[in-house]
Amino acid sequence: ASGDHVPALVIGSGYGGAVTALRLTQSGIATAVVEMGMAWNTAGSDGKVFCNVLNPDQRSYWLRTSTDQPIGYFLGISANKSIGRYTGVLDSEKFAGIRVYQGRGVGGGSLVNGGMAVVPRRDYFAQILPSVDLASMYDTYFPRANTGLGVNAIDPAWFETAECYRFARVGRDQAKASGYPTTFLNNVYDFAYMKQEQANTVPRSALASEVIYGNNHGKRSLDKTYLAAAAATGRLSITAQHVVTAVVPSSAGGYSVTMNQIDTAGAVVATKTVRADKVFFAAGSVGTSKLLVAMRALGKLPNLPDAVGQGWGNNGNVMVARANHIWNTTGALESGMPAMGIDNWADSAGPVFAEIAPFPAGTELWISLYLAITKNPNRAAFSFDSSTGGVGLNWQTAWNQPAIDAAKRVFDTINKKQVTVYRSDLFGVNKVWGDDFTYHPLGGCILNQATDNYGRLPGYPGLYVMDGSLIPGSTGVNPFVTITALAERNIEQILTIDSF
Ligand code: FDA
Repeated sequence: ASGDHVPALVIGSGYGGAVTALRLTQSGIATAVVEMGMAWNTAGSDGKVFCNVLNPDQRSYWLRTSTDQPIGYFLGISANKSIGRYTGVLDSEKFAGIRVYQGRGVGGGSLVNGGMAVVPRRDYFAQILPSVDLASMYDTYFPRANTGLGVNAIDPAWFETAECYRFARVGRDQAKASGYPTTFLNNVYDFAYMKQEQANTVPRSALASEVIYGNNHGKRSLDKTYLAAAAATGRLSITAQHVVTAVVPSSAGGYSVTMNQIDTAGAVVATKTVRADKVFFAAGSVGTSKLLVAMRALGKLPNLPDAVGQGWGNNGNVMVARANHIWNTTGALESGMPAMGIDNWADSAGPVFAEIAPFPAGTELWISLYLAITKNPNRAAFSFDSSTGGVGLNWQTAWNQPAIDAAKRVFDTINKKQVTVYRSDLFGVNKVWGDDFTYHPLGGCILNQATDNYGRLPGYPGLYVMDGSLIPGSTGVNPFVTITALAERNIEQILTIDSF
């Protein structure tokens, strides 16, 4: 409630926020998490909390009147449809040159993502975050993150026979035939549950085209792992549907945090201000960067360093699909959770780590879809627009050319070997590359540049950054394990050194 005083306030309930909340509450510190999205714990009139990708309704998108699907076309025709304007679970946030997909709700991106839990290559991590001690990351914090997240491995024997992974076996075999190694990907989706789905003994989720708009079963999202453990301490409060709009030093000590309570149509129903001794920014790469850049520009946190707002990247994301021959079926039933990746990262002429992605349309489409992660060196910056009061991002679509070039090396080779072609009808009309959106926003508040080596904001004791904005635009694999492990490392140090 307005006027409250809390020892610790966490903005956002994704990976960075959930780790922070657990470790603070376990240390005896009462912690308030403020989340702009909904709690996603109540079933709709269809008995389900989330909708699937085949029948998106108002629950799918954050405050939009039509869907904005990553694969927005089929046979060159728009695949989007009208929906009610609602605080849905997936935000497609539009900047000038890129749409940034993000989860909205208690659990952040963990509600919508594909669950792939991949530890980055050690040598690449050393390149991107040279100030972080490698041994402690790989010996302590990555294992701790995997445990906290509930990461599990697919049973390789089951993978070989499961109908729902035919698409992944086809993708693997075609990659191998072109000389590209593949690797199994761990996941936070409960593979034991998925086996039962395949056997039809439990309600289906991953096997019912559920992904990107949430999973009704099987997914160990943060509300079931880190946040549930934090709640079990009795020291956690989570306030959903509240958007933090300002953080300023308070004359009474600590910081005063202003937030708008919103209804499910996005309308502001109340504005509240609370005082917090410590404030942890965990609103995601975009959310944290936007807030801090605005606070600096408006003179509320004027001494934030110039590096705040810099160094944003899309993890080199680019999507592409291939059309297989009629005899190369990918299956009518595809698990929404990927289980295999093509690893061509060792290719210095264009490192690529590509997830063999599902296209869970519920019907045979002969499509092989990939989300490629590349080493695109381009970086963008956030800046405050005084005319609109908003914060923009100067990424240009053309900056994704290095990602296309690297991915093209791999998929041109596979097409040549298979005598197949790209699909050009899924990302637009006659458009092969899904190059104008990302699932992996990273950076904007880089560790040891915008913050100290543990996420402390210089000049403002008690302000911390804990999320994907710390990572300099790239981590070479799907990012949430990196974000979680880095948050584990930073909060441990903060709890040891800083006084609470
Ligand atoms: P995250 O975005 O998770 O959390 C930030 C939270 O803060 C959100 O809940 C947001 O609503 C809230 N917030 C923002 N501004 C706020 C404000 N002003 N006030 C209050 N709350 C605010 N990664 C991976 O490793 N494997 C995968 O398989 C996938 N797949 C995937 C699919 C899709 C569709 C998406 C969109 C993303 C993925 N990802 C992924 C990426 C992964 O989900 C992402 O990197 C993490 O969720 C980022 O974690 P953070 O803690 O940085 O922010």
